[in-house]
Amino acid sequence: MSAAELIRDPAAWQARCLEARQAGRRLALAPTMGFLHEGHLSLMREARRRAGPGGLSLATIFVNPSQFGPNEDLARYPRDLAGDLAKCVQAGVDLVLAPERPDQLYPPGFQTWVEVTGLGQGLCGARRPGHFRGVATVVTKLLNLTRPHLALFGEKDWQQLQIVKALARDLHLGVEIIGMRTIREPDGLALSSRNAYLSPEERARALSLSRALLEARDRAAGGERDAAALAAGARRRLEEAGARVDYVEVVHPETLEPVARAVPGSRMLVAAFVGKTRLIDNLDLP
Ligand code: PAJ
Repeated sequence: MSAAELIRDPAAWQARCLEARQAGRRLALAPTMGFLHEGHLSLMREARRRAGPGGLSLATIFVNPSQFGPNEDLARYPRDLAGDLAKCVQAGVDLVLAPERPDQLYPPGFQTWVEVTGLGQGLCGARRPGHFRGVATVVTKLLNLTRPHLALFGEKDWQQLQIVKALARDLHLGVEIIGMRTIREPDGLALSSRNAYLSPEERARALSLSRALLEARDRAAGGERDAAALAAGARRRLEEAGARVDYVEVVHPETLEPVARAVPGSRMLVAAFVGKTRLIDNLDLP
């Protein structure tokens, strides 16, 4: 493939994907909001690999307004379509959907929402009201427009991954949802489009998220099972670094219910503000 083909019209995209599916080609989708980094590209490379030689590797780039709260960063969310397309080519993407305007996915009169009730309530759902309703709705739209055999999502957004798995199952979407491990900078910081907001000094403080998680993992490996103690240690580490903690929780990896004692597979999830930038990260405990 020499270039990824860019499609701007969702209806044209839907027709192309349906035609390919009916021709027996395997479709693998990586949805994104763009400003692509190695985390996104790992999803796209895996989509290419899993689509196979005759299959189609698909990516979407759409900054979804409905998942941003009124005081969040929708207006300044970083964008670079030309740069993104070049990266898509490198990652072996065949077709890219990048709608030009939000009303192409949310036309006037739009009034249907997808809400994953249990999983969407705690953690980021409690701190960002409406966020997961926006995510679940746009992901359902993208899956319906594309009808892929499989779709890839990052573990970096652990709660989002569980929500997407639930909606695909609950709504019988007939798509396999695949979670992909978190890609990190060499020093441990999880890649995120929002890292672009960080000043050099904030970038240093942002390291406290992955450090706090690794420290908790070490303590758990050393025998500390008490979730509250593990969370308190992580919270302290974040505060010492000057991050403002939004939450630190130890949860069951699939139900996202808080646990009192960490068992193998329990997951610690953190969200913290570094300056004005809200960052999230998570790690499994041994
Ligand atoms: P976005 O933040 O652009 O992320 C797109 C996909 O890339 C998500 O599945 C996310 O989990 C994954 N990703 C982000 N950083 C990653 C990293 N460091 N390592 C591995 N994967 C990473 O998540 C969204 O967009 C949106 O909510 C979306 C699902 C596209 C719906 O609008």
